[in-house]
Amino acid sequence: LFLATSIILSAMMFQGAGHMAIVALHILPFTSHVYALDLNVDDQESIKDAGSTAAYNMMTWYKGNGTDNPGFISRSWWEGAALFLACLNYWHATNDTTYNEEVSVSLQHQGGSGGDYMPSWAIGVGNDDQMFWGLAAITAAEYKLPNRPSGDTWLTLAERVFYNQKSPQGGGWDTSICGGGLRWQKDVWQSGYTMKNAVSNGGFFMLAARLAWYTQEEEYAIWAEKVWDWSTTVNLVDNKTWAVADSVRAGSGGPDGCGLPDSTRWTYNYGTYLSGAAYMYALTNDSKWLNITNSLMESLFTTFFLPEYGGVITDRCEPSGQCYKDANWPIFKGLTVSWLADIALIIPSLKEKILPKLQVSAEGAAKSCTGNGQNLCGNRWWYGGYDGQNSMENAISGSQMMSAIMVKFLDSSSKPVSTATGGNGTSDPSAGTGESSGPAQLPPVTTADRAGAGILTVLFVASMIGGVVFLFRGP
Ligand SMILES: *[C@@H]1O[C@H](CO)[C@@H](O)[C@H](O)[C@H]1NC(C)=O
Ligand SMILES: *[C@@H]1O[C@H](CO)[C@@H](O)[C@H](O)[C@H]1NC(C)=O
Ligand SMILES: *[C@@H]1O[C@H](CO)[C@@H](O)[C@H](O)[C@H]1NC(C)=O
Repeated sequence: LFLATSIILSAMMFQGAGHMAIVALHILPFTSHVYALDLNVDDQESIKDAGSTAAYNMMTWYKGNGTDNPGFISRSWWEGAALFLACLNYWHATNDTTYNEEVSVSLQHQGGSGGDYMPSWAIGVGNDDQMFWGLAAITAAEYKLPNRPSGDTWLTLAERVFYNQKSPQGGGWDTSICGGGLRWQKDVWQSGYTMKNAVSNGGFFMLAARLAWYTQEEEYAIWAEKVWDWSTTVNLVDNKTWAVADSVRAGSGGPDGCGLPDSTRWTYNYGTYLSGAAYMYALTNDSKWLNITNSLMESLFTTFFLPEYGGVITDRCEPSGQCYKDANWPIFKGLTVSWLADIALIIPSLKEKILPKLQVSAEGAAKSCTGNGQNLCGNRWWYGGYDGQNSMENAISGSQMMSAIMVKFLDSSSKPVSTATGGNGTSDPSAGTGESSGPAQLPPVTTADRAGAGILTVLFVASMIGGVVFLFRGP
């Protein structure tokens, strides 16, 4: 995640939010979506209605449909991936295709000319940013979203992210420090370049595992094993306590010159490794992966579904009410519950363990999603009501939660597909600027890019001089 920009853009966001409020005032009173979010988790129609409202509110934030850069969300490029993932999950949960066309157009377009989610208009793409778009693409394939009539297939797009991230030239797998792993950032000028973080590596692990499961091709499974082994060696994932750290930093001691893991905890860091392990079990039937899946799930539950918050999923920025301080943070738990729902479909024997956790969290979210007479979602689902923190990110997580609880009513006919069960296996990852022509070549620099990069670099350097270092750390 490009925190330097997200912080710079947060000033603009306030303007944007003001504008949104005005738009909302003009539009919303005339819609049929103004009723209390009344969720009964035992009633499929009730979940569908709540999901429809949450998705509608989420999509009021999206202004890219019909523009010449569909899917581009200027305030934080990666959040487009989170938004379209939420749309895919909404469609998968309810069969409502309202947003599919704009999702499909956007998901392909944001791949850029190289089809590897390094488009020229996204400056300073981190490995995690790129990975989230890759996850959206493989999700589209697993849910059987029809491929576009021309251009890259969903599978190709996901594979290109994988090929880019396994290659050192692509700013991906890097053995120069820490004995392997992905750096958070690809670009030397970004402060996150010296860090190897959980979400980039856990996300790459999950992408490799899902590609392995989807295609049955061995290379992906070998890489999933490799990323897992590395992550446990440097203790990003502690395979005794099952704690998942946020990052390790180069040059401060520890194994292979990698700093000791921090004690920062985020839901989605756990979620990426958990989901990857679940796909590896679904692929191999190996009890090793089932044990890992169970252990990580238990750890996720005891770390974030706390009794003092009614058992509702809670990220660590929430008790102090400070999650709004970084636009990205409120998205994490929404991603996490969506992965739990997928795991319940991929490994049905785990469904009984997962459902009660989703249920309590969904009931909390329904109370939170009652804002401003329009059922806007707040941030803290354990709060007992709307907490006033209206944002696109909270809307995304609210929508993800309503889709996730629908898993209660989904049977094996809704199981994500692989090529063995009807998934489309058409792909051509080496075409275009894929691996053969050198992955992750920087796109040709246009004047507009240079101007953008210049401004960002100046701001970045200024912030360094000001002694502000942007770290991806929780409170
Ligand atoms: C997106 O735009 C297309 C055409 O520009 C339009 O047909 C479609 O209805 C729009 N989608 C939504 C959900 O508004
Ligand atoms: C798979 O996708 C490709 C590319 O869009 C398409 O040509 C092909 O017909 C699809 N196959 C099936 C079985 O849908
Ligand atoms: C795993 O088990 C399933 C169901 O028993 C079976 O269909 C599948 O072939 C097995 N896969 C492997 C790799 O053993």
